[in-house]
Amino acid sequence: MRRFVMKGNICYSNDNKELCVIENGYVVSEDGICQGVYEQLPEKYQMIPCYDYTDRLIIPGFTDLHVHAPQYSFRGLGMDLELLDWLNTHTFVEEAKYQELAYAEKAYDIFADDMRKSATTRACVFGTIHNEATLLLMEKLEEAGIKGFVGKVNMDRNSPDYLCEASAAQSAKDTEEWIKASKQFENIRPILTPRFIPTCTDELMEELSDLQKKYDLPMQSHLSENFGEIAWVQELCPDTSFYGEAYNKYGMFGNDCKTIMAHCVHSTEDEIKMMKDQGVFIAHCPESNTNLSSGVAPIRKYLDMGMKIGLGSDVAAGSTLSMFTAMSMAIQCSKLRWRLSDQELKPLNIEEVFYLATRGGGEFFGKVGTFEKGYEFDAVVLDDSSLRHPQELIVKERLERMIYLADDRNVVAKFVNGKSVPRDKDGDETAIFGGNQ
Ligand code: GUN
Ligand code: FE
Repeated sequence: MRRFVMKGNICYSNDNKELCVIENGYVVSEDGICQGVYEQLPEKYQMIPCYDYTDRLIIPGFTDLHVHAPQYSFRGLGMDLELLDWLNTHTFVEEAKYQELAYAEKAYDIFADDMRKSATTRACVFGTIHNEATLLLMEKLEEAGIKGFVGKVNMDRNSPDYLCEASAAQSAKDTEEWIKASKQFENIRPILTPRFIPTCTDELMEELSDLQKKYDLPMQSHLSENFGEIAWVQELCPDTSFYGEAYNKYGMFGNDCKTIMAHCVHSTEDEIKMMKDQGVFIAHCPESNTNLSSGVAPIRKYLDMGMKIGLGSDVAAGSTLSMFTAMSMAIQCSKLRWRLSDQELKPLNIEEVFYLATRGGGEFFGKVGTFEKGYEFDAVVLDDSSLRHPQELIVKERLERMIYLADDRNVVAKFVNGKSVPRDKDGDETAIFGGNQ
């Protein structure tokens, strides 16, 4: 049995309204599972090893519910277009390069290394259409110590020749081979990833639906992100009355198929109802929606309706892997939405975005994203001493400042499912201070 205690200022969400703060408290991990948070350490835990992070902030790790690994190499570039032009001009050109394993090796090394250093402990990641490169990505993320899902992307229409699978049958055959090959990984699991309806034929969706049932896999895709995209889906699928139906037709929209849909900026009432009824997870990607001028999703409404929702970086439409940025931008975008288009929906607050980045997105992985007893023990330790301040701040204010001001350099330790993740590839596990070992 591997047991340890962590001591510090512990912050976690009870729900999307309540942030719990225990000043210089204790949180206990046993075989990767949280045993609870304490103001005073119970007698039975007093002799177990202790990581003493007195006065630092201890938070659950963040979940990035939507990120494209191959796009990390052009983040911060080409932000002058809307979705469909951006895909054709920049994205597909870059993703085609991953056919070359040597390129994938270099690019995914950088991506995995930066993921390792980040405050993210869980992620749902898009690869490219290429099996070999996607397996390499899975290997590197496994090495980087995070837990997550990675998808080999499917696209067999409306894509340039250099990034278009030969047929639905070929795409399905490659996908099945990749699913089988990915069994070698422990913490990184496969997720079906039809890119979005415009790039997937009906035959391909049928094939993927069969694979979904055969292997009981989750799926991830994009939904109602941009007006041009939505109009195009309506043309391509005249038998549907809203975009989500085009996934639902194939049984890949929640219910028995665990589903993440990125964006949902312009979802209709019928689409929202179906997502709610069928338990579809929404990945809210505020920076991406800003950069591609997509719009601002009505997150307050989704939260009030009790929908399943988390945050995504959506690199490279989002420029950074930082979930701190995703949180602060979720607040900022909600304010602009409130001011400019809909006074009914009040802006988001700190409690809500912290919930979205931890517990909200973590729910896709089961009991993940908080320090309640029985949850998987994912934790990040933040040192905010570099953010100098002339007076004492309370812990909640310090967390609030981290949300707006922190980056990787504030992360001093990270634990995933009870295991310490060294900051550097060949680094040592975090040393245990104090306690009896
Ligand atoms: N829709 C289809 N592909 C993509 C992508 O790569 N990024 C974003 N933001 N939307 C998409
Ligand atoms: Fe995306």
